[in-house]
Amino acid sequence: MEKACNISDIPSGTMKGFTVNDNYILVANVDGNFYAVDAVCTHMSGFIPVGKLEKKFIISCPTHGAQYDVKTGKLIKDVDEEIKEATGSGASDLQIYEVSIKDDSIFIDL
Ligand code: FES
Repeated sequence: MEKACNISDIPSGTMKGFTVNDNYILVANVDGNFYAVDAVCTHMSGFIPVGKLEKKFIISCPTHGAQYDVKTGKLIKDVDEEIKEATGSGASDLQIYEVSIKDDSIFIDL
């Protein structure tokens, strides 16, 4: 387990990106529960933490709009067909990480 951040770094309903052991990790706070996934989009490496956290658990890549479930890492909405054709690929599921809380710190199982 590696420390990613403090609980106070991520208010409820927000997400942020952190570098943990050279990995870019997104941590989201959904109603006081914390979730961690890869911060880099599976499509073309967009940095998801600068996107949006919507409807409590949907994270959207700011680059071409792929959407993922932050709880499961599952791809909910792929990029549009035109973007798929132009870039040669679509998105796929994100890697998720186990999160544990100790005192005021959030740890990630990498
Ligand atoms: S890089 Fe994320 S949707 Fe294209």
